[in-house]
Amino acid sequence: MSQLHIINHPLITHKLSIMRNKKTGSKDFRELLNEIAMLMGYELTRDLPLEDVTIDTPIQKMKAKMISGKKLAIVPILRAGLGMVDGLQSLVPVAKVGHIGLYRDPETHKPVEYYCKLPLDIEDRIVILVDPMLATGGSASDALTMLKARGCKHIRFMCLVAAPEGVKKVQDDHPDVDIYTAALDERLNEHAYIVPGLGDAGDRIFGTL
Ligand code: PRP
Ligand code: URA
Repeated sequence: MSQLHIINHPLITHKLSIMRNKKTGSKDFRELLNEIAMLMGYELTRDLPLEDVTIDTPIQKMKAKMISGKKLAIVPILRAGLGMVDGLQSLVPVAKVGHIGLYRDPETHKPVEYYCKLPLDIEDRIVILVDPMLATGGSASDALTMLKARGCKHIRFMCLVAAPEGVKKVQDDHPDVDIYTAALDERLNEHAYIVPGLGDAGDRIFGTL
């Protein structure tokens, strides 16, 4: 069963509160989003397996531990997911990056696919799918289906703010995918925006308000 991890470290919660404030401009919003993505990435990678390797320190040989096993891929859902990539890549610089383009139809609130470009070896990687907002869950669920159709078997979903409706949708559709969020908000409003949320994440990142 999919697990919901709420990563409410004080630094993350504090930065998120600044982002929620409607007076916070795009520059600060972007910087804070990347900082939070990096801090969340630290938790999300906590269970990566280590292996013994032998190295020479300047003093002597030793058995040290290094990350083993599958390599990572970061896949943002365009546009807003792009705002979390730099933060995660600063933590895992060798991760490859794929892109999935989805937008929500303003009338139906259903996701519409317009782009998909993934690393060739995506099926051999642990995939971190990222999007700051999990609202109805339609976009995340469709993106997960697209990844699985291309052979991905080990996927984690990372967002900033989740609504209970979105968590339920992803857990129902993808019980094998754990969700990592910085906050679980109250509900969706009549426009399928998260309440209290932070507004339209893509518009706030890119200044298209
Ligand atoms: C936002 C957000 C998610 C989606 C969440 O994207 O970044 O992708 O909505 O909503 P859902 O859970 O109800 O599907 P949007 O469609 O506004 O596109 P954008 O990132 O290009 O602005
Ligand atoms: N997309 C956003 O950017 N914000 C919401 O609250 C819901 C969907």
